[in-house]
Amino acid sequence: MARPAAIYPISIGRDENGRLTLAGHSLVSLAVQYGTPQYIYDAATVRQQIGNLQKAMEDRYPASVEITYAAKSYFSLLFARKLSQMNVGVDVVSMGEFRIAQKAGFRPTRIHLHGNNKSEEELLEGIDQAIQAIVIDSLEELEFVAALAAERHKRPMVWLRITPGVDVDTHPYRKTAHAHSKFGLGVANGQAAEAIREAKANPHLHLTGLHMHLGSQIFEVEPYQRSIRLLIELAESCGFTPKELSPGGGLGVPYHPDDLEFNMNAWVDGVIETVRTEYEKRNWRLPKLVIEPGRWITARAGLAVYTIGSTKKGADGSAIVSVDGGMADNPRPAMYQANYTCMVAEKAAAALAGRARIVGKFCESGDELIAETWLPEVERGDHLVVPAAGAYQLSMSSNYNLAPRPAVLWVEQGMVEVLQRREYPEESAWWMGQ
Ligand SMILES: Cc1ncc(COP(=O)(O)O)c(C=O)c1O
Repeated sequence: MARPAAIYPISIGRDENGRLTLAGHSLVSLAVQYGTPQYIYDAATVRQQIGNLQKAMEDRYPASVEITYAAKSYFSLLFARKLSQMNVGVDVVSMGEFRIAQKAGFRPTRIHLHGNNKSEEELLEGIDQAIQAIVIDSLEELEFVAALAAERHKRPMVWLRITPGVDVDTHPYRKTAHAHSKFGLGVANGQAAEAIREAKANPHLHLTGLHMHLGSQIFEVEPYQRSIRLLIELAESCGFTPKELSPGGGLGVPYHPDDLEFNMNAWVDGVIETVRTEYEKRNWRLPKLVIEPGRWITARAGLAVYTIGSTKKGADGSAIVSVDGGMADNPRPAMYQANYTCMVAEKAAAALAGRARIVGKFCESGDELIAETWLPEVERGDHLVVPAAGAYQLSMSSNYNLAPRPAVLWVEQGMVEVLQRREYPEESAWWMGQ
């Protein structure tokens, strides 16, 4: 039988009463002190995810490598400050992410600007700050960036986002590189080749690299290998040798003990072997290899903690257990049919008593966090802990039903830091019309 996938942060533990702890802190005490819903990031897991990936790449690749964190998976100023000390760059897609990255201390040469519809303001900031790469998404944007650069007598470094037309095995909303994707310059329709030729010839642009991003939650390396080959053939046919090559992010993460484990070493092996083979057979100098994981760095590090409220029996006899959060802090089950698991913090050692469905408190039938799980006997006031909660939850959260957004903590042995204090809509100028 396969081993259950590792989904809890590495610092998870239990105290002598069988209650859950994280980095030695009682989850029940944290819930009481900072309120729920509550999100907690385990520092050791974030460091481990980055460190293992960095080491795997450096051990195998004889040229330069860079990990660029995809800010969209979770970003806030204090979290960004932690990351800026961990030898990673950052991929931003909005002025908000850009400003936070700058304020947190990321050097411009470690910032990439992505997006299929960047604003003039965002592009000008990228040009003025001479960031590592403005990642151009369309022929129209290529002309626009060149015109802005010409006006300012600048020559920004740019990459082109290529859409290889490759389908991957993931939820349709997480696919980004198929022929009908809204992202990037298509290979099949000739736009990618046209963009390479135009960018090379344009005196106001400095084309340094090619980029692709196939989607998210991808567990196989083969689509990356196929797409890398395609990008390199395309570059060669246009007389261009990319000095920087980015196969994007998308590294898969298990959310449930029954999910596949992502084989990070096999993924790194496959990507690096393909880049080396393709470059070496052309006698090209190896490019700087830039990968852009988001979920890989944050998902497992994060826990969501809720307080259980009302419970009732459903039509099928299983319990319907309501918690004090739901789709406002975690829209992933509703958007992607994401499949989570959970534990009860004060009853982690108790016997399982029956089947349960975990629902949120919001006025939508789709507000269901876990369609089916097993729980011990629970009562109002118990705390439900959901693992793999660090990515694309808070960053996609909303104030639906005027729900306050949760407090976010960062924990290490002997230290708890508030990254984001709990929000109160009645304090917000936006809600109160001030
Ligand atoms: C361009 C780009 N790079 C990287 C990522 C990160 O993806 P993941 O969090 O799946 O690694 C995304 C996510 O949408 C993206 O759009």
